Amino acid sequence: MFEGYYKKSRSERLQILRDYAGLTDAELAILNHEGALPFETANHMVENMISTFQVPLGLGLNMVVNGKKYAVPMATEEPSVIAAMSSASKLIAQSGGLKATSSGRLMVGQMAVYGVLNFERAKQTIIEHQTFLLDVANAAYPSLLKRGGGARELIVREVETTEEKIFVVHLHVETLEAMGANMINTMVEALCPDIERLTGGTAEMKILSNLTDQATATATCTIPTNLLFTKNRSGEEVRDRIVRAFAFSDADIYRAATHNKGIMNGIDAVLLAFGNDVRSIEASAHAFTARDGRYRPMSRWSVNARGDLVGELTLPMPVATVGGSIAISPLATLAKKIAKVENAEELAMLAVSVGLAQNLAALKALVTEGIQRGHMTLQAKSTAISAGAKGEEIERVAEKMLETGQINLSEAKKIIEEER
Ligand code: HMG
Repeated sequence: MFEGYYKKSRSERLQILRDYAGLTDAELAILNHEGALPFETANHMVENMISTFQVPLGLGLNMVVNGKKYAVPMATEEPSVIAAMSSASKLIAQSGGLKATSSGRLMVGQMAVYGVLNFERAKQTIIEHQTFLLDVANAAYPSLLKRGGGARELIVREVETTEEKIFVVHLHVETLEAMGANMINTMVEALCPDIERLTGGTAEMKILSNLTDQATATATCTIPTNLLFTKNRSGEEVRDRIVRAFAFSDADIYRAATHNKGIMNGIDAVLLAFGNDVRSIEASAHAFTARDGRYRPMSRWSVNARGDLVGELTLPMPVATVGGSIAISPLATLAKKIAKVENAEELAMLAVSVGLAQNLAALKALVTEGIQRGHMTLQAKSTAISAGAKGEEIERVAEKMLETGQINLSEAKKIIEEER
């Protein structure tokens, strides 16, 4: 039934799908609803395209990084993420905003060379021929060199499997505004014949690495305790609880995973809005976090000599403002304009700042009133809609659930039944 599906037009695909899944006209109308991304464009982006998938786009507010104010486009389906980011950013802005830095942007390409007999000699040969090899890599992607980027250095590593020792060559490339996957893959493939000739091995595997530890961004914030107090707790107590929450994540992988999920709530939302490859950013962030062999919390919270709460987050940020599908996605193009972001380095620093603010909001809520009040208050409307509430009913059902503290699907359905 689906043979040659990829060769059909979108409407032919929908006819086949209608018969296969028994879709009604109303269901087909959902698939036929065109959003900001034109069908024509989407059809060239992925295979077997039938429709586009939408998530809400909101603005994260109050963010100040290195003295610059940002309204940050965030694409997420999860309630309370944007409110939490805005709330923590407001708090951080009162203490001067976030400070962010970038390590520069070198992406990594890997070549795994098998069958090398003398590793020391092979390493020496690669080092001696580095200039020549970089020229070969650059010749494979001349437009990058013309724009001021290009291959910068070669690093040699040894990786041991249970079976053998692999001679691994890393190519570091300055990819400018692009994430650079295609550039790097082109370069490492072009380099392989020379690497094989010089080492006497076989370069079986050549591909970029998604652990971009040569392209990190760091965000820090310092918050005096007089800004941290809540109705029931002093600022000192909130500060100490946040530091203890960090220590818990540092000691326990179950908690670390959740801590880090909270950070990625913000980072993924920003980078999805910017049309970036969020899978590569997730992969990079989690691998970086476990780089010494133990999975840890991505951020760190401590107390400085003045007694202020200090937060710090360093993550690899292989972000891009061009390339991939960014230019053809109308919303991704708009995101750059709305956020007033000049380049990929600034976007990396903004994303990591959002991650740290997101983390602060979650930790503060968790160690004071608990996550349910803020998060579930905002979740209530989605729950009401899932239960079938329409129009003004949504707000009323959400409010009733909040009154009773029972925010779940069956409670929402019960309220709707009573109301109707
Ligand atoms: P609040 O104290 O009621 O907010 O917090 P506020 O009244 O102090 O408002 C401060 C600012 O926050 C506002 O400034 C807004 O910018 C923003 P203003 O405009 O008034 O000048 N704000 C909102 N923006 C949009 N819509 C709203 C809204 N409310 C405030 N409704 C809040 C309420 C939800 C922010 C707070 O309770 C909170 O931050 N909770 C944490 C929620 C959270 O972290 N959600 C993420 C999903 S949960 C999760 O998956 C991660 C987790 O598991 C991670 C982990 O375990 O570490 C928790």
